Amino acid sequence: MRALITGITGQDGSYLADMLLEKGYEIIGMVRRSSTESFERINHIKDAITLIQADLLDQLSIVNLIEEFRPAEVYNLAAQSFVPTSWNQPVLTGEFDAIGVTRMLEAIKLVDKKIRFYQASSSEMFGKVQEVPQSETTPFHPRSPYGVAKVYGHWITVNYRESYNIHANSGILFNHESPRRGLEFVTRKITHGVARIKLGLADQLALGNLDAKRDWGFAGDYVRAMWLMLQQDKPGDYVIATGETHSVEDFVKLAFGHVDLDYRQYVVTDPRFVRPAEVDLLQGDASRARKNLKWELTVDFEQLVKMMVDADLERLATAVK
Ligand code: NAP
Ligand code: GDD
Repeated sequence: MRALITGITGQDGSYLADMLLEKGYEIIGMVRRSSTESFERINHIKDAITLIQADLLDQLSIVNLIEEFRPAEVYNLAAQSFVPTSWNQPVLTGEFDAIGVTRMLEAIKLVDKKIRFYQASSSEMFGKVQEVPQSETTPFHPRSPYGVAKVYGHWITVNYRESYNIHANSGILFNHESPRRGLEFVTRKITHGVARIKLGLADQLALGNLDAKRDWGFAGDYVRAMWLMLQQDKPGDYVIATGETHSVEDFVKLAFGHVDLDYRQYVVTDPRFVRPAEVDLLQGDASRARKNLKWELTVDFEQLVKMMVDADLERLATAVK
C-alpha cells in the first residue's frame, strides 16, 4: 500500500507516517519548498520515506505528484493551522485550507477516482456551538477565518463524494496534542513554559483567555482514526473526540501541579493573546466513530498533560546541559 501525506512535517503528519510505516505502507510525503528544511518531527524516519516538493497553492504540482506515484490513499493534513494567524492572513488561510482541498480533490478526480481521500476537518467549524456535545449532525457556526475555510474544506469533500463517487472522508477532529505540538498552541506553550520555569529559565508565563474549554486528546490516537476511516467500505464524516471538556485553566493547574508549582505565582494574562472572537466550549460526541470504526482512546487528559510536561522537561534539561 502506498499513501501520500500532505503536511507530513506537521504534528499529525509525523504521527501518521510513524503508524503507516509500522503497518508496512510506502510513504510519500508532500513538502513545500523552503530555504531551510525543517524536518524536526520526521528526522527519525527520513530515510524510510520519500519526500517530494509540491504546494497546496499550485494545482499542477499536486496533479504531477499524484500522477507519478498513484497512491492508494491520500491524507490531506497540510494547512495554515493556527487560528490567530487566520485573522492576520485570512486570504492565504482560505487558499490553503479551503481552495487547497479542492485542488487535492481535483487532482484525484483527474488521475484516478478510486484513490481514497482523508480531509483534516476541525471542531473549529462548530465555533459558537449550537448544542453540547457536538456530533456529525450539529450545525456549523465558525468563529474565525480558519474555521470558515475548514467549513468549505469539509463541504467540498462531501461534494466530491456525492458528485463523483470518490471515497472522500471528512474527519472532524477535536483538539489533539502531543510532545510534537507546535510551540504557539496553548497546550505546548503551557508545558514548555512550565519546564522553563521549573528549570529556572523563566519566571512567568503570559496567556490569554483561561476560561476557554476544549476537548483535548492525544494526537497518536487521532491519526489511527484517520486510517480507520479509509479502511471502511463506505466513506463518511466522523467526529473524533474524547467527550470530556476542560478549561485552559484546568490544563495550566495540572501542568504546574505536576512539577509541584502553584500556577498562580507564575501565570499572567496578556490581552495580546485574546482573540477577536472566541470559541468558548468544545466537547465532542464520537459515538459514530466508536461504533463504526471501533475507535478507542489510549491516553486520557491527565496522562496527556503529564506526558507533555515530562517531554519538555527532558528536552530542555538536555539542551541546557
Ligand atoms: P501543523 O503541525 O501546523 O502542520 C501543518 C502542516 O501543513 C505542516 O507540515 C506544514 O508544512 C504544512 N503546510 C502548510 N501550508 C502548506 C502548503 N501551502 N503546502 C504544503 N504544505 C503546507 O498542524 P497539525 O496539528 O499537524 O494539523 C494537521 C491538520 O489537521 C491541519 O489541517 C489542521 O488544520 C487540522 N486539525 C488539527 C487539529 C489539532 O488539534 N491538531 C484539530 C483539527 C484539525 P511546513 O512544515 O512547511 O510549515
Ligand atoms: N494559542 C494560544 N495561546 N491560545 C490561548 C492562549 C495563548 O497564549 N491563552 C489562552 N488560549 C486559548 C485560546 O483562546 C483558545 O480558546 C484555546 O486556548 C486553544 O487555543 P489553541 O491551542 O491555539 O488551539 P485552537 O483551539 O484555537 O485550535 C486548535 O484546535 C483546532 C481544533 O479545534 C488548532 O490545532 C486548530 O488547527 C484545530 O483545528
